[in-house]
Amino acid sequence: MRDMPDAGDQGGDPLFDAPVVEHRNEIFKNRDLVDTDHVPDADRIIGRDEQIEQVAHEIGALVVGEPASSVLIFGKTGTGKSLVAKHVMGRVEAEADRRGVSVGTAYINCSQTDGPARVPRNIGRRINPPESGVKFPSRGISTDEYYERLWSILNQHYDGVAITLDEVDRLRDDSPLMILSRARENGSIDIPISIVAISNKIDYRNQMNERTKSSFGHREYVFDPYDANQLREILRNRSDAFHEGVIEEGVIPRVAALAAKEHGDARKGIELLFSLGKYAIRNGYDTISEEDVPKVREMAEAERLRDLITGLPAHSQHVIGALAALTISNSDEGWFRTSKVLDAYKKLCNEHAVDPVTHERVRQLLEELSFLEITESRNQHQGSKGQFNEHTLNKPPEIIKQIYRETAP
Ligand SMILES: Nc1ncnc2c1ncn2[C@@H]1O[C@H](COP(=O)(O)OP(=O)(O)OP(=O)(O)O)[C@@H](O)[C@H]1O
Ligand SMILES: [Mg+2]
Repeated sequence: MRDMPDAGDQGGDPLFDAPVVEHRNEIFKNRDLVDTDHVPDADRIIGRDEQIEQVAHEIGALVVGEPASSVLIFGKTGTGKSLVAKHVMGRVEAEADRRGVSVGTAYINCSQTDGPARVPRNIGRRINPPESGVKFPSRGISTDEYYERLWSILNQHYDGVAITLDEVDRLRDDSPLMILSRARENGSIDIPISIVAISNKIDYRNQMNERTKSSFGHREYVFDPYDANQLREILRNRSDAFHEGVIEEGVIPRVAALAAKEHGDARKGIELLFSLGKYAIRNGYDTISEEDVPKVREMAEAERLRDLITGLPAHSQHVIGALAALTISNSDEGWFRTSKVLDAYKKLCNEHAVDPVTHERVRQLLEELSFLEITESRNQHQGSKGQFNEHTLNKPPEIIKQIYRETAP
């Protein structure tokens, strides 16, 4: 999104002439730089030269129309996987073009594709030249037909194709990965195809179907999290998102240190810079100081938590409320056995005049909450008495309690 010129004094709608809009332009110079969906230029990508070279090495033969490999990239969230893939794809396309080779590239985020037909349809739409006459309609044709149309486009218009399947673990089944990686071998296409599959689930390869694994010949790369120095560099390279002098000394190192604690997540750092800008705008401040950083982070985290919690089923909210209450009243413990959580949960149900769900269901809800990383569970052994489960809250209990108090169903 780009900042719009101020239309207020040129007869524009005064509704949008609020001081806040004017002030926004005094804070942000180039807001795209703190938008996490924006793909920055090469000179703003820090500490990923090796990974860029590795991926380029695997798929690079495409630029001369030769067969290339496929890759599977793993790494925790915010470690630059999508960025590196998009960056390399852009360079492959440009270099192929320069050499007079026509390479098609398509970036597909599999979390936004809900069925197997979506993948070939979306790839088709991305690479379909307007003059082809082929259509990829939203409905009315089978998955096989989408693939047939995709193959015909590729064979007629391209010398090679590179496809990024981001968040590939979100595909309900991995048939697209298998079909695409076998397309040349089984004669559907006669041009080289290269796939860059990305996942932040390190055990994804165990989830993969055996047949897919064997047809998807690929190298695997793991992207490590960034350390505080790299994060500082990444964020410094975004500081011209703001006008000169808006960010005070000390802000960037502080944000980088916090992002380093979040397992080295660059996205968290960039999001926090964006939140700091919005905070200054809302409050009419001209500068952002180091002291603002922890405050704004807490506010942003609370906002995110509120969205997350209010989106959960009613009884999950009561279970979280129970864990928060337990954590606050037993400040020296932190971990609580299932039976204790259950008692606290029933008490809350009683206060809210709702019927509690069964023990078994509460156990399942606790499992789901730990999957969402709102809570954590562990199995403890106690000599001859056997085993039991314990749970802890991963989020600040006071904030959870407040959200629960305001929003509990
Ligand atoms: N090395 C880097 N240099 C500059 N910016 C970076 C770097 N790595 C990541 N970023 C920025 O951080 C944000 C997150 O990066 P990216 O989307 O590539 O993460 P990811 O590894 O794909 O995470 P996820 O698993 O959550 O999808 C993006 O806005 C990206 O531009
Ligand atoms: Mg990503």
